[in-house]
Amino acid sequence: MQIKILQPDDWHLHVRSGAALKSVIGMSAKQMGRAIIMPNLNPPVTNALQAQAYREEIIQALPEGDEIDPLMVLYLTDNTNTSDIEKAAKSGIVKAAKLYPAGATTNSDSGVTDIKNIYPALEMMSKMGMLLLVHGEVTHADIDIFDREAVFIDQVLTQVAHDFPELKIVFEHITTKDAVDFVIESNSNIAATITPHHLLANRNDMLVGGIRPHYFCLPILKRENPHQLALLDAATSGNPKFFLGTDSAPHAKDAKESACGCAGILSAHCAIELYATAFESRDALDKLEGFSSKFGPDFYNLPRNTNTITLSKESWLVPESYEYAGSVIIPFMAGQELSWKLV
Ligand code: DOR
Ligand code: ZN
Repeated sequence: MQIKILQPDDWHLHVRSGAALKSVIGMSAKQMGRAIIMPNLNPPVTNALQAQAYREEIIQALPEGDEIDPLMVLYLTDNTNTSDIEKAAKSGIVKAAKLYPAGATTNSDSGVTDIKNIYPALEMMSKMGMLLLVHGEVTHADIDIFDREAVFIDQVLTQVAHDFPELKIVFEHITTKDAVDFVIESNSNIAATITPHHLLANRNDMLVGGIRPHYFCLPILKRENPHQLALLDAATSGNPKFFLGTDSAPHAKDAKESACGCAGILSAHCAIELYATAFESRDALDKLEGFSSKFGPDFYNLPRNTNTITLSKESWLVPESYEYAGSVIIPFMAGQELSWKLV
Protein backbone atom coordinates (compact mmCIF):
# COMPACT_ATOMS: atom_id res chain seq x y z
CA MET A 1 0.00 0.00 0.00
CA GLN A 2 1.12 3.54 -0.73
CA ILE A 3 -0.22 6.98 0.08
CA LYS A 4 0.55 10.12 -1.86
CA ILE A 5 0.27 13.54 -0.23
CA LEU A 6 1.31 17.10 -1.02
CA GLN A 7 4.85 17.68 0.19
CA PRO A 8 4.82 18.57 3.89
CA ASP A 9 6.56 21.50 5.56
CA ASP A 10 8.06 21.55 9.03
CA TRP A 11 6.66 24.52 10.95
CA HIS A 12 9.11 24.12 13.88
CA LEU A 13 12.66 22.91 13.34
CA HIS A 14 16.06 23.27 15.02
CA VAL A 15 19.03 22.82 12.69
CA ARG A 16 21.82 24.47 14.77
CA SER A 17 24.86 25.84 12.91
CA GLY A 18 28.33 24.82 11.71
CA ALA A 19 29.12 21.11 11.61
CA ALA A 20 25.91 20.18 13.45
CA LEU A 21 23.85 21.94 10.78
CA LYS A 22 25.66 20.01 8.04
CA SER A 23 24.88 16.73 9.80
CA VAL A 24 21.10 17.25 10.03
CA ILE A 25 19.87 19.62 7.34
CA GLY A 26 19.73 16.93 4.64
CA MET A 27 17.34 14.88 6.78
CA SER A 28 14.72 17.63 6.68
CA ALA A 29 15.43 18.55 3.06
CA LYS A 30 14.61 14.98 1.96
CA GLN A 31 11.13 15.29 3.47
CA MET A 32 10.05 18.90 3.78
CA GLY A 33 9.46 21.69 1.30
CA ARG A 34 9.93 24.50 3.81
CA ALA A 35 10.93 24.73 7.44
CA ILE A 36 10.42 27.35 10.10
CA ILE A 37 13.93 27.62 11.52
CA MET A 38 14.22 28.15 15.25
CA PRO A 39 16.53 31.05 16.21
CA ASN A 40 17.88 29.71 19.53
CA LEU A 41 21.51 29.70 18.50
CA ASN A 42 24.18 30.96 20.84
CA PRO A 43 24.11 33.97 20.40
CA PRO A 44 20.48 34.01 19.22
CA VAL A 45 19.19 35.34 15.91
CA THR A 46 17.73 38.69 16.94
CA ASN A 47 17.64 40.82 13.79
CA ALA A 48 17.07 40.63 10.06
CA LEU A 49 20.77 40.75 9.19
CA GLN A 50 21.55 37.77 11.38
CA ALA A 51 18.53 35.93 9.98
CA GLN A 52 19.78 36.57 6.45
CA ALA A 53 23.27 35.28 7.30
CA TYR A 54 21.84 32.20 9.02
CA ARG A 55 19.57 31.50 6.06
CA GLU A 56 22.56 31.60 3.72
CA GLU A 57 24.54 29.31 6.01
CA ILE A 58 21.68 26.79 5.94
CA ILE A 59 21.43 26.83 2.15
CA GLN A 60 25.23 26.43 1.85
CA ALA A 61 25.13 23.47 4.23
CA LEU A 62 22.64 21.49 2.12
CA PRO A 63 23.97 18.26 0.65
CA GLU A 64 24.33 18.36 -3.13
CA GLY A 65 20.95 18.00 -4.82
CA ASP A 66 18.88 18.61 -1.67
CA GLU A 67 16.54 21.57 -1.38
CA ILE A 68 14.56 23.18 1.40
CA ASP A 69 13.27 26.71 1.81
CA PRO A 70 14.32 27.99 5.25
CA LEU A 71 11.74 30.40 6.69
CA MET A 72 13.47 32.53 9.28
CA VAL A 73 12.40 33.53 12.76
CA LEU A 74 13.61 36.29 15.08
CA TYR A 75 14.36 35.50 18.71
CA LEU A 76 12.54 37.99 20.96
CA THR A 77 14.50 39.47 23.86
CA ASP A 78 13.69 42.13 26.44
CA ASN A 79 15.49 44.54 24.09
CA THR A 80 13.74 43.71 20.80
CA ASN A 81 12.45 47.03 19.50
CA THR A 82 9.80 47.93 16.97
CA SER A 83 12.37 48.82 14.32
CA ASP A 84 13.95 45.32 14.58
CA ILE A 85 10.49 43.91 13.87
CA GLU A 86 9.70 46.31 11.08
CA LYS A 87 12.99 45.65 9.29
CA ALA A 88 12.58 41.90 9.68
CA ALA A 89 9.04 41.97 8.35
CA LYS A 90 10.14 44.02 5.35
CA SER A 91 13.10 41.71 4.66
CA GLY A 92 10.70 39.12 3.23
CA ILE A 93 12.72 36.24 4.68
CA VAL A 94 11.58 36.52 8.31
CA LYS A 95 8.11 35.11 8.80
CA ALA A 96 7.77 35.11 12.57
CA ALA A 97 9.31 35.93 15.92
CA LYS A 98 9.71 33.48 18.77
CA LEU A 99 8.94 34.05 22.42
CA TYR A 100 11.13 32.01 24.73
CA PRO A 101 10.39 32.81 28.35
CA ALA A 102 13.89 33.33 29.83
CA GLY A 103 15.34 30.04 31.03
CA ALA A 104 12.61 27.86 29.46
CA THR A 105 14.88 25.66 27.35
CA THR A 106 18.09 25.23 25.31
CA ASN A 107 19.79 28.63 24.75
CA SER A 108 16.94 30.66 26.21
CA ASP A 109 19.01 32.78 28.60
CA SER A 110 18.42 35.84 26.42
CA GLY A 111 14.68 35.20 26.42
CA VAL A 112 11.93 37.47 27.65
CA THR A 113 11.75 38.06 31.43
CA ASP A 114 8.35 39.79 31.43
CA ILE A 115 5.85 39.67 28.58
CA LYS A 116 5.13 43.40 28.98
CA ASN A 117 8.71 44.08 27.84
CA ILE A 118 7.80 42.96 24.34
CA TYR A 119 4.36 44.57 24.08
CA PRO A 120 5.63 47.28 21.67
CA ALA A 121 7.22 44.56 19.51
CA LEU A 122 3.99 42.53 19.57
CA GLU A 123 2.03 45.61 18.53
CA MET A 124 4.35 46.06 15.54
CA MET A 125 4.17 42.34 14.66
CA SER A 126 0.41 42.53 14.70
CA LYS A 127 0.53 45.55 12.39
CA MET A 128 3.05 43.94 10.00
CA GLY A 129 1.33 40.54 9.91
CA MET A 130 4.33 38.79 11.46
CA LEU A 131 3.44 35.66 13.42
CA LEU A 132 4.25 35.14 17.09
CA LEU A 133 5.54 31.65 17.92
CA VAL A 134 5.51 30.77 21.60
CA HIS A 135 7.38 28.33 23.75
CA GLY A 136 4.46 28.06 26.13
CA GLU A 137 5.93 27.32 29.52
CA VAL A 138 6.43 29.48 32.58
CA THR A 139 9.83 29.20 34.17
CA HIS A 140 9.22 30.08 37.85
CA ALA A 141 11.08 27.69 40.14
CA ASP A 142 7.94 27.13 42.20
CA ILE A 143 5.92 25.75 39.27
CA ASP A 144 6.19 22.00 38.75
CA ILE A 145 7.70 21.08 35.39
CA PHE A 146 4.60 19.07 34.43
CA ASP A 147 2.34 22.10 35.09
CA ARG A 148 4.36 24.75 33.28
CA GLU A 149 2.37 24.73 30.05
CA ALA A 150 -1.03 24.94 31.73
CA VAL A 151 0.16 27.75 34.00
CA PHE A 152 1.57 29.62 30.97
CA ILE A 153 -1.90 29.57 29.38
CA ASP A 154 -3.43 31.08 32.52
CA GLN A 155 -0.70 33.58 33.34
CA VAL A 156 0.52 34.71 29.92
CA LEU A 157 -1.12 33.41 26.77
CA THR A 158 -4.74 34.20 27.57
CA GLN A 159 -3.75 37.82 28.24
CA VAL A 160 -1.60 38.16 25.10
CA ALA A 161 -4.35 36.69 22.92
CA HIS A 162 -6.82 39.10 24.50
CA ASP A 163 -4.56 42.15 24.13
CA PHE A 164 -3.57 41.40 20.51
CA PRO A 165 -6.66 39.90 18.84
CA GLU A 166 -5.22 40.50 15.35
CA LEU A 167 -1.84 38.89 16.10
CA LYS A 168 -1.44 35.39 14.67
CA ILE A 169 -0.04 33.13 17.36
CA VAL A 170 1.32 29.61 17.05
CA PHE A 171 1.36 27.79 20.36
CA GLU A 172 4.37 25.59 19.59
CA HIS A 173 4.80 21.91 20.45
CA ILE A 174 1.72 21.64 22.63
CA THR A 175 1.75 18.79 25.13
CA THR A 176 -1.43 19.00 27.22
CA LYS A 177 -5.19 18.71 26.99
CA ASP A 178 -5.24 22.21 28.49
CA ALA A 179 -3.42 23.53 25.41
CA VAL A 180 -5.65 21.61 22.99
CA ASP A 181 -8.76 23.03 24.67
CA PHE A 182 -7.32 26.55 24.71
CA VAL A 183 -6.54 26.45 20.98
CA ILE A 184 -9.95 25.03 20.06
CA GLU A 185 -11.75 27.66 22.12
CA SER A 186 -9.65 30.61 20.87
CA ASN A 187 -10.33 32.74 17.80
CA SER A 188 -9.02 31.75 14.39
CA ASN A 189 -5.72 33.64 14.92
CA ILE A 190 -4.50 30.97 17.37
CA ALA A 191 -3.09 27.67 16.11
CA ALA A 192 -0.68 25.03 17.41
CA THR A 193 2.02 22.68 16.23
CA ILE A 194 2.25 19.10 17.49
CA THR A 195 5.45 17.04 17.45
CA PRO A 196 5.69 13.38 16.46
CA HIS A 197 7.23 12.45 19.80
CA HIS A 198 4.38 13.97 21.80
CA LEU A 199 1.93 11.98 19.64
CA LEU A 200 3.82 8.69 19.96
CA ALA A 201 5.25 8.81 23.48
CA ASN A 202 4.36 9.77 27.03
CA ARG A 203 6.26 10.08 30.29
CA ASN A 204 6.17 6.35 30.90
CA ASP A 205 8.33 5.87 27.82
CA MET A 206 10.88 8.20 29.40
CA LEU A 207 10.81 6.92 32.98
CA VAL A 208 9.50 3.36 33.38
CA GLY A 209 12.16 0.67 33.72
CA GLY A 210 15.01 3.19 33.69
CA ILE A 211 15.54 6.81 32.76
CA ARG A 212 15.78 7.30 29.00
CA PRO A 213 17.49 10.58 28.21
CA HIS A 214 16.71 10.37 24.50
CA TYR A 215 13.03 10.88 25.41
CA PHE A 216 13.79 14.05 27.36
CA CYS A 217 12.53 17.18 25.65
CA LEU A 218 10.80 20.39 26.59
CA PRO A 219 7.96 20.75 27.15
CA ILE A 220 8.45 17.43 28.91
CA LEU A 221 6.41 14.38 27.84
CA LYS A 222 3.16 14.27 29.80
CA ARG A 223 0.84 11.48 30.91
CA GLU A 224 -1.01 9.38 28.37
CA ASN A 225 -4.47 10.14 29.73
CA PRO A 226 -5.64 12.83 29.20
CA HIS A 227 -2.74 14.61 27.51
CA GLN A 228 -1.21 12.34 24.84
CA LEU A 229 -4.71 11.17 23.94
CA ALA A 230 -5.91 14.77 23.55
CA LEU A 231 -2.99 15.52 21.20
CA LEU A 232 -3.85 12.49 19.07
CA ASP A 233 -7.49 13.59 18.98
CA ALA A 234 -6.50 17.12 17.95
CA ALA A 235 -3.97 16.16 15.28
CA THR A 236 -6.27 13.64 13.62
CA SER A 237 -9.45 15.72 13.95
CA GLY A 238 -9.04 17.62 10.69
CA ASN A 239 -9.21 20.91 12.63
CA PRO A 240 -6.94 23.30 10.66
CA LYS A 241 -5.70 24.91 13.89
CA PHE A 242 -3.38 21.94 14.43
CA PHE A 243 -0.46 21.27 12.10
CA LEU A 244 2.95 19.68 11.74
CA GLY A 245 5.98 21.01 13.62
CA THR A 246 8.55 18.41 14.58
CA ASP A 247 10.64 20.39 17.07
CA SER A 248 13.42 18.09 15.89
CA ALA A 249 16.21 19.33 18.18
CA PRO A 250 19.56 17.61 17.79
CA HIS A 251 22.04 17.13 20.63
CA ALA A 252 25.09 14.87 20.54
CA LYS A 253 24.81 11.54 22.38
CA ASP A 254 27.21 12.66 25.12
CA ALA A 255 25.27 15.83 25.79
CA LYS A 256 22.12 13.79 26.42
CA GLU A 257 23.60 10.77 28.20
CA SER A 258 24.86 12.92 31.04
CA ALA A 259 24.18 13.72 34.69
CA CYS A 260 22.51 16.89 33.41
CA GLY A 261 21.34 15.96 29.95
CA CYS A 262 20.09 18.36 27.28
CA ALA A 263 16.45 18.56 26.23
CA GLY A 264 15.66 17.73 22.64
CA ILE A 265 14.75 14.83 20.36
CA LEU A 266 15.96 14.30 16.78
CA SER A 267 13.01 13.31 14.60
CA ALA A 268 13.95 14.87 11.27
CA HIS A 269 15.33 11.54 9.97
CA CYS A 270 11.84 10.04 9.74
CA ALA A 271 9.40 12.80 10.66
CA ILE A 272 6.65 12.10 8.14
CA GLU A 273 6.88 8.35 8.80
CA LEU A 274 6.40 9.02 12.52
CA TYR A 275 3.34 11.15 11.87
CA ALA A 276 1.95 8.49 9.51
CA THR A 277 2.40 5.93 12.29
CA ALA A 278 0.50 8.12 14.75
CA PHE A 279 -2.33 8.84 12.30
CA GLU A 280 -2.61 5.16 11.35
CA SER A 281 -2.99 4.28 15.04
CA ARG A 282 -6.17 6.35 14.96
CA ASP A 283 -7.27 4.98 11.58
CA ALA A 284 -6.96 8.57 10.32
CA LEU A 285 -4.46 8.44 7.45
CA ASP A 286 -6.99 10.40 5.41
CA LYS A 287 -6.37 13.35 7.76
CA LEU A 288 -2.56 13.27 7.43
CA GLU A 289 -2.28 15.52 4.38
CA GLY A 290 -4.26 18.40 5.89
CA PHE A 291 -2.15 18.31 9.05
CA SER A 292 1.19 17.93 7.33
CA SER A 293 0.82 19.89 4.10
CA LYS A 294 -2.21 22.22 4.06
CA PHE A 295 -3.07 23.78 7.42
CA GLY A 296 0.44 25.13 8.11
CA PRO A 297 0.83 27.16 4.89
CA ASP A 298 -2.80 28.27 5.16
CA PHE A 299 -2.17 29.68 8.65
CA TYR A 300 1.08 31.36 7.56
CA ASN A 301 -0.67 32.81 4.47
CA LEU A 302 1.75 31.01 2.18
CA PRO A 303 0.93 28.86 -0.85
CA ARG A 304 0.65 25.12 -0.34
CA ASN A 305 3.34 23.02 -1.98
CA THR A 306 2.27 21.59 -5.32
CA ASN A 307 4.63 18.61 -5.57
CA THR A 308 3.84 15.36 -3.79
CA ILE A 309 5.59 12.71 -1.73
CA THR A 310 4.75 9.03 -1.47
CA LEU A 311 4.76 6.92 1.67
CA SER A 312 4.94 3.19 1.34
CA LYS A 313 3.69 0.65 3.87
CA GLU A 314 6.99 -1.13 4.38
CA SER A 315 8.98 -2.14 7.44
CA TRP A 316 12.44 -0.74 8.08
CA LEU A 317 14.74 -0.31 11.04
CA VAL A 318 15.64 3.17 12.22
CA PRO A 319 19.45 3.41 12.49
CA GLU A 320 20.95 3.12 15.99
CA SER A 321 22.83 6.39 15.45
CA TYR A 322 23.92 8.97 12.93
CA GLU A 323 27.14 10.93 12.57
CA TYR A 324 26.75 14.36 14.21
CA ALA A 325 29.35 17.10 14.11
CA GLY A 326 32.29 14.74 14.59
CA SER A 327 30.36 12.82 17.25
CA VAL A 328 27.17 10.74 17.12
CA ILE A 329 23.51 11.36 17.74
CA ILE A 330 20.84 8.91 18.83
CA PRO A 331 17.68 9.51 16.80
CA PHE A 332 14.09 9.05 17.96
CA MET A 333 13.09 5.36 17.65
CA ALA A 334 16.74 4.30 17.28
CA GLY A 335 16.97 0.60 16.38
CA GLN A 336 13.18 0.26 16.29
CA GLU A 337 10.95 -0.81 13.43
CA LEU A 338 8.74 1.61 11.54
CA SER A 339 6.07 0.43 9.15
CA TRP A 340 5.96 3.49 6.86
CA LYS A 341 8.78 4.62 4.62
CA LEU A 342 9.19 7.69 2.45
CA VAL A 343 9.70 6.54 -1.13
O1 DOR B 1 13.43 19.85 23.84
C1 DOR B 1 13.66 20.94 23.36
N1 DOR B 1 14.82 21.20 22.71
N2 DOR B 1 12.76 21.91 23.51
C2 DOR B 1 13.02 23.16 23.15
O2 DOR B 1 12.17 23.99 23.34
C3 DOR B 1 14.33 23.54 22.57
C4 DOR B 1 14.99 22.39 21.98
C5 DOR B 1 16.46 22.62 21.66
O3 DOR B 1 16.77 23.66 21.07
O4 DOR B 1 17.26 21.76 21.98
ZN1 ZN C 1 11.77 23.92 19.57
